[in-house]
Amino acid sequence: MNKALDFYYSSIGKKVLMSVTGLFLIVFLTEHLIGNLLLFAGDEGKMYEAYGDFLVSNPVIRFIELFMFLGIFVHIIIGVILWFKNRKTRSVKYKLFRLKDNATLASRTTIISGLVIGIFLYIHLTTFFFPLRYSDEKSGAYELVVNAFSDFWYVIFYLAALFVIAYHLHHGFQSAFQTLGLRNKKYAPVLDIIAFFVWCLIPLGFAAIPIYFFFFHGSGATVIMWGF
Ligand code: HEM
Repeated sequence: MNKALDFYYSSIGKKVLMSVTGLFLIVFLTEHLIGNLLLFAGDEGKMYEAYGDFLVSNPVIRFIELFMFLGIFVHIIIGVILWFKNRKTRSVKYKLFRLKDNATLASRTTIISGLVIGIFLYIHLTTFFFPLRYSDEKSGAYELVVNAFSDFWYVIFYLAALFVIAYHLHHGFQSAFQTLGLRNKKYAPVLDIIAFFVWCLIPLGFAAIPIYFFFFHGSGATVIMWGF
């Protein structure tokens, strides 16, 4: 128990926790994107709603969801703690586990991108998750998506947030593997391919959703033509 606490209190222990929770959240994000791509099924949301019902009614998924929220919580808290610690001990150089990319712009601005993602998540959950799970108002998930992405500024906000998410993932994914000591010459090329999928294709996949619903489902094109 003491060893576990010592590990947690060490900087590397916290970085390992950041990496593990970060990678876990990337798995969630991949699954979330795949589920959301059902919005393109062209059946006015029938499969999407069925998928949502499955998520809500399946006890195993609900249990994993709890872990996911715990993961988000731990990732944010430890990230903030590490940031404060790094500020205080900026001049101290760690002999072990020193990351080459520590000094990059992405590394220094990860805290800012992380906080922007926190704000995005709050707005995202109040738009979709809470109304669907905990409100009497009975709009389906598909209807909520259509309504949300018929608003020009909401679409712009999502696209900007996804840009920040891409930036955060770009640094975070590589950094996690380096912290866990899993980035070596043999695996580096494979990791680079997966990294590209994670930081570029996942945000692009999500971005396709507001763009599609604004321009091709709602009245977006007309709104733009008439100057909002
Ligand atoms: C732009 C496309 C997106 C759409 C259309 C979308 C849609 C949704 C919907 C409908 C829910 C509620 C599901 C339910 O409770 O049954 C949800 C939940 C959630 N979304 Fe998204 N989402 C998008 C992007 C994102 C992104 C980029 C993130 C993270 C950075 C994210 C994180 C979450 C989380 C953490 C939940 C709560 C857990 C869950 O219900 O699975 N979403 N989203």
